[in-house]
Amino acid sequence: MCGIVGGVASQDVISILLDGLKRLEYRGYDSSGLVVLAENNSLNRARAVGKVVNLEEKLKTKKNKIKGNIGIAHTRWATHGEPSNRNAHPHICNHSVSVVHNGIIENYLDLKTSQKEQGYKFTSDTDTEVIAHAIHLSMQSSETLLEAVQKATATFDGAYGLGVVSPKYPDTLIATRKGSPLVIGVGKNGNYIASDQMALLPVTKEFIFLEEGDIAELTLTKVTIYDEGGNQVERPVKTSKLNKGQVSLGDYQHFMQKEIFEQPQAIRDTLESRITKENVLISAFGPKAQRIFKKIKQVQIIACGTSYNAGLVAKYWFEDIARIRCNIEVASEYRYRHPILLDGTLFVTISQSGETADTLEALKTAKKINSKINTLCICNSAESSITRGSELTFLTHAGPEIGVASTKAFTTQLVALALLVTSMGVTQKTINKKQEKAIVEGLKRLPGLVNKALKQEDQIIELAKRFKDKTSALFVGRGTMHAIAMEGALKLKEISYIHAEAYPAGELKHGPIALIDESIPVVAIAPNDELLNKLKSNLQEIKSRGSQMIVFEDEDSHVKSMKAMDVIPVTSNLGRITAPIIFTIPLQLLSYHVALVKGTDVDKPRNLAKSVTVE
Ligand code: G6P
Repeated sequence: MCGIVGGVASQDVISILLDGLKRLEYRGYDSSGLVVLAENNSLNRARAVGKVVNLEEKLKTKKNKIKGNIGIAHTRWATHGEPSNRNAHPHICNHSVSVVHNGIIENYLDLKTSQKEQGYKFTSDTDTEVIAHAIHLSMQSSETLLEAVQKATATFDGAYGLGVVSPKYPDTLIATRKGSPLVIGVGKNGNYIASDQMALLPVTKEFIFLEEGDIAELTLTKVTIYDEGGNQVERPVKTSKLNKGQVSLGDYQHFMQKEIFEQPQAIRDTLESRITKENVLISAFGPKAQRIFKKIKQVQIIACGTSYNAGLVAKYWFEDIARIRCNIEVASEYRYRHPILLDGTLFVTISQSGETADTLEALKTAKKINSKINTLCICNSAESSITRGSELTFLTHAGPEIGVASTKAFTTQLVALALLVTSMGVTQKTINKKQEKAIVEGLKRLPGLVNKALKQEDQIIELAKRFKDKTSALFVGRGTMHAIAMEGALKLKEISYIHAEAYPAGELKHGPIALIDESIPVVAIAPNDELLNKLKSNLQEIKSRGSQMIVFEDEDSHVKSMKAMDVIPVTSNLGRITAPIIFTIPLQLLSYHVALVKGTDVDKPRNLAKSVTVE
């Protein structure tokens, strides 16, 4: 992953670069750096370990006071080489060229060996440094920086989004991408690049989304783009609907907290124009959706992280409610294991960012395995690689999600999946009018139900205090609640660093029950469904092993409270679709407040990044 910003402007670009980097910190934050071309035509660089504020502070010191109208900047999530000053980008070769890179150059060791033989000296452990040397080498036989970058990138295997500047070409910034995202911001007083449009919203709302293999030459007044074959091409300029306020904290302490509380609105926005009084609008999945859904025999879902957990809920819904066969797998496994894809498969990818490398590659792999399959993505980013690679797209309207731990993206993915399951069931006549109406009514109640669940916060704050000295926790549930337990455990791991596992409640007896003692809190989810009595027996089994328990229940579940067991009624009268969405809320609040108790960096937990655009 990593985040890139760059620009050629009529003013000093330092503040634009720093502001852009801060907006990209969700992509990584173990070090950052920037280079500007100074008036004397030299490359002036500053780098710092840790978050972007450290770089900002460094730039305030006398020694590092630099400015320039053209520059590139980077916030890093380490892949090759530890987080350190010397491994931070930008990398420079022979004072003549500087690069920032997002992605991985897979053949960097071969390139490094041959570059060393040619006398290049390495000052970092990164794969990126070979890019700087490769461009420097091809500059010797090129007339323009663009030509040099084209020649160099032809030797790379792997993925890259690149920003390149050189004092030899003081008016030009080169940008190119393959397998990693990069957008161009077209401004009134300059032209810019970034890994994500959010970085550039303070300077422009006009964006060009580069295609795979595109290379662009930016000057103060002009953007010229060439495709992978070297032909000059026109790419449309699109006006972003995002505004910069959407990416600020407002009155909240953390983005995660803000995003948890934005869920009623995010769900409303995701449902808007997708349902009528009694029906789901199948056309919400695109004009071809009805025709495609009719012939589908099975669904294959692929995703990573939280998006995978959303898919896991949908597997139950597809088979249980719509009676359509459904498989789900994590993308990093699927893409490498030569899977069988039958004709009549709808290949569904779920991704908040639409840029997750494993999910994108799994999609490409699937299309190669069987070109007859249909593809659909559920995504929160309109102009992403995954939406562009999919036949049908359903956009969740969650708005920008900045907190690394996903919250509103997850619940809106569930809403999208509920609409998909219903649309397919209706098309295939496995869901009748009455059932469809009941589902739509349930979906409409969601914003109110989420608000009600959010009201449990004070109680959850108290419960969170108990996790202060805990190092492990167990989450249990049955059916879709097993998937929700997985999401609850993932949230806790991600932001409080407590080891957490999720188990189907009925599976505990086959191993994990051996772990249970008073040191391991168990969090259980008890909806009022057909498995409730079975779950109650499982809770007894856990309780008799001395565990401290927290049970989030439906008011009608009437789980009997016992010593060292807190039973929290979250809601009542939920259906099979609404229940998993609503029971997610207390688990999000719990992990958020445990993280506060533990004093971790909630929005930027260690070692993680929001958008993982590397393998
Ligand atoms: C990272 C993030 C997770 C996210 C996962 C998949 O691991 O930290 O929050 O769920 O990527 O991301 P996607 O954008 O594809 O949903």
